[in-house]
Amino acid sequence: MITTVTKAIFPVAGLGTRFLPATKSIPKEIMTLVDRPLIQYAIDEAREAGITDFIFVTAKGKSALEDYFDRAPELEKKLRDSNKTALLEELKRSDMESGSIAYIRQREAKGLGHAVWCARRFIGDEPFAVLLPDDVISGQQGCLKQMIDAYRETGGNMVAAMQVPDSQTKNYGIIDKGAENGRLVSVKGMVEKPALGTAPSNLAVIGRYILRPEVMDALGKFQQGAGGEIQLTDAIADQIDQGRPVHGFRFEGTRFDCGSKAGFLQATVAFALERSDLREEFGVFLDSITHLHHAAE
Ligand code: G1P
Repeated sequence: MITTVTKAIFPVAGLGTRFLPATKSIPKEIMTLVDRPLIQYAIDEAREAGITDFIFVTAKGKSALEDYFDRAPELEKKLRDSNKTALLEELKRSDMESGSIAYIRQREAKGLGHAVWCARRFIGDEPFAVLLPDDVISGQQGCLKQMIDAYRETGGNMVAAMQVPDSQTKNYGIIDKGAENGRLVSVKGMVEKPALGTAPSNLAVIGRYILRPEVMDALGKFQQGAGGEIQLTDAIADQIDQGRPVHGFRFEGTRFDCGSKAGFLQATVAFALERSDLREEFGVFLDSITHLHHAAE
């Protein structure tokens, strides 16, 4: 059985309606947290975890994403000629070796599970990771790297897990918890976006997954779930019913929900404060604006 995970799927076909009008012409994944596009954070995290094959499930209107990962020889030359080595290094993050990145179109918006299924031929018979770029996770060590280290011991399927307030469970895939062992939780069942008051726990699935190829077969049944969409959560729950283990992994780090405006702004502020070139000036501004805000209350 192959247990090394080298392939990752990035579902990026969503319309990003919450960020209209910006997303009328810019893919949401290109919107920047400070100066790096959202997608770059997921790519960096995947690379750190040892991923070498990057599979994007895109849709119409997302071609800016492909350009972002292309080489920019003229720009590189200009930077080299003017000795801007730091910027050149930064550019390298988005330079993907030919053949390491593949784009697949999801032709109909049928849900996250369907988007993942669209990549099935690239996955074949291997375990694979899924990263939802809206979930940006900062910390000492990348979330996927932490999961892959744990997965080497557990095998099976694994989902990132995080405690959320009861009022929020309706927005997530929720885990029915079994035995706990350190950061690992044995998953007895999973429900996608349960109605308020019906969630089996408040342990939510966050957008990082390590999955066995059999999940693709479950997705290929095209069973509609919450919101009439084909849900990844349901296909993973199906694995449990088939007697295949699924683990939740309580990762270390801070997760920002960059699919929402408030989460995107929080991530922007947090990342700006982490940057040595911005911390001081931006910190002074934040202090002054929060004082003004309190004074106005
Ligand atoms: C998706 C998944 C959900 C998961 C969430 C994490 O939902 O379907 O199970 O909890 O991502 O961010 P979405 O936020 O795309 O509606």
